[in-house]
Amino acid sequence: MQTDVTRLIQSHRSIRKYTDRPIPDDVLADILASAQWAPSSHNVQAYSIVVVRSAEKKKQLAQLCGGQKWVETCPVFLVFCADFYKLKLASDMHGSEFLADEVENMLVAAVDTALAAENALVAARSHGLGGVMIGGIRNQPEDVARLLKLPVLTAPIMGMCLGYPDQDVEQKPRLPKRAVIHEEEYRTEHLPEALEEYEAVSAEYYARRTRKDHAEGWTKQMADYLQKPRRPHLGDFLRKQGFPLK
Ligand SMILES: Cc1cc2nc3c(=O)[nH]c(=O)nc-3n(C[C@H](O)[C@H](O)[C@H](O)COP(=O)(O)O)c2cc1C
Repeated sequence: MQTDVTRLIQSHRSIRKYTDRPIPDDVLADILASAQWAPSSHNVQAYSIVVVRSAEKKKQLAQLCGGQKWVETCPVFLVFCADFYKLKLASDMHGSEFLADEVENMLVAAVDTALAAENALVAARSHGLGGVMIGGIRNQPEDVARLLKLPVLTAPIMGMCLGYPDQDVEQKPRLPKRAVIHEEEYRTEHLPEALEEYEAVSAEYYARRTRKDHAEGWTKQMADYLQKPRRPHLGDFLRKQGFPLK
């Protein structure tokens, strides 16, 4: 059984091409209010959102995200940051010791940030907008921090391009339910065949999308993805920003 909300959620596709139509201020305000209504661990609300509309700044960010042109062409780019800076201010207001040096603190902030971001994307879609999250914002985090004047105790976690869609893309198939949902306890026996099934389904999808006779499916893509380091600079960046990650 579906509701309007679940239908919206289950029709998700990342959108990377946008019309020139600007996003009205009241629509953006509603999206940002929805982001703030995400639940938050211990109500720390350990995130901030930088709204970027400047063409020059989007151009620079597109380069810093690895040359992703949709970061430049979207009318609004949001940068979702983990943020313990304002929590330090709160501690200082009370002359309290401030301890945010554990991996746990960064996990809390990253989870809070992601929940706010997904709320924003769903809200945007309910207004007829489309968008895509951008992990490329962590490619050159020091330059992003400099450009956006991010203070100590903050770190960019993900970006988000938003705009009115100018493309109609097929939904990307998800893993079979039995590879994700477990009843009462985690079961491993059926996973290999579920992954085989998804390899075939996703390979067909990528072949259609790239208009080729054959494409690699999800298991092969993941195998390739996980045989290289991802962003080995992040640990040092986070430590410089004041997160020792103990
Ligand atoms: C945290 C996060 C970071 C992402 N980073 C990028 C990115 O840098 N560039 C991009 O084009 N898509 C990015 N994506 C979009 C994913 O590639 C996309 O969600 C995934 O392939 C599933 O496709 P779908 O969203 O169309 O269903 C990101 C998604 C998430 C959740």
